[in-house]
Amino acid sequence: GMVRKPANFISSISDDRGEELQYCGVSISEVFSQSVGVGGVVSLLWFRRQLPPACCKFIEMVLMVTADHGPAVSGAHNTIVTARAGKDLVSALCSGLLTIGPRFGGALDDAAKMFAEAHDSGVSPKDFVDQCKKQNKLIMGVGHRIKSLANPDQRVEIIKQYAKKCFKDNSILDFALGVEQITTKKRANLILNVDGCIAVCFTDMLRSCGAFSREEAEDLMSFGCLNGLFVLGRSLGFIGHHLDQLRLKQPLYRHPWDDITYISQLA
Ligand code: ACO
Ligand code: LMR
Repeated sequence: GMVRKPANFISSISDDRGEELQYCGVSISEVFSQSVGVGGVVSLLWFRRQLPPACCKFIEMVLMVTADHGPAVSGAHNTIVTARAGKDLVSALCSGLLTIGPRFGGALDDAAKMFAEAHDSGVSPKDFVDQCKKQNKLIMGVGHRIKSLANPDQRVEIIKQYAKKCFKDNSILDFALGVEQITTKKRANLILNVDGCIAVCFTDMLRSCGAFSREEAEDLMSFGCLNGLFVLGRSLGFIGHHLDQLRLKQPLYRHPWDDITYISQLA
């Protein structure tokens, strides 16, 4: 019989061969006739599921709250400097994206892991904070440069309230809020930050929405999908900053000497 050449490539999320493009088996016409929205498209292409409307709405809310946080943050700053160096949109965007990591915008997956593992182990929030301190480990998803108890982050409030209202289970969120009570006693800016809040609410959602087995939910978390949400959301802002610099015809940026402390000397 015929021997089929083994394929070099395997893909399970989309197919453009037929009459109509499909996102995970759902035709592009259905994507529109069912009004699944951007959240529904993310759910098809990232999670290979048609998640319930409350989950799709949550994904969209995450993209909206992470879209931008002003020109002063690391990523927007890089994007702006790159745009002002005359580079194209993709370069400016990539330059911004490259700053996303453990200190800025890329703490979601590690936050989810730390809080979920601690919650599941049965440790108390206080003992968890003490353990991290002893091991000299920062708690991912906690701390902010400008937001604090006195200057709360409305993005966190919005995400928290939605999760409380719409998800069946909030146990990881509640655990993280217990941790926040302890850390903010030490310093008022050691709040559950936007990365941390999204991470714990998303974990509660994945575990309780009924669309994933526990193992599938754990797998997804280990792939880094949560940082992907911040990357996707903040790309909206970075592209905005690039276009803004062009609109404002900003020249090449050079950092002022008086804002640099020069300490060079022979070691
Ligand atoms: N867990 C425990 N302790 C912390 C944490 C944390 N996450 N963050 C700061 N601290 C402590 C430090 O150990 C330090 O303590 P000390 O005074 O006893 O030495 C003190 O708070 C000040 O630390 P800094 O590093 O100066 O705090 P800064 O305000 O500069 O850092 C940052 C802010 C980078 C967000 C930090 O809190 C952090 O790394 N958090 C964890 C990573 C994270 O969640 N990043 C995402 C931020 S949100 C976003 O980018 C959209
Ligand atoms: C952000 O969303 O970029 C911020 O929370 C980080 C910051 O320092 O404002």
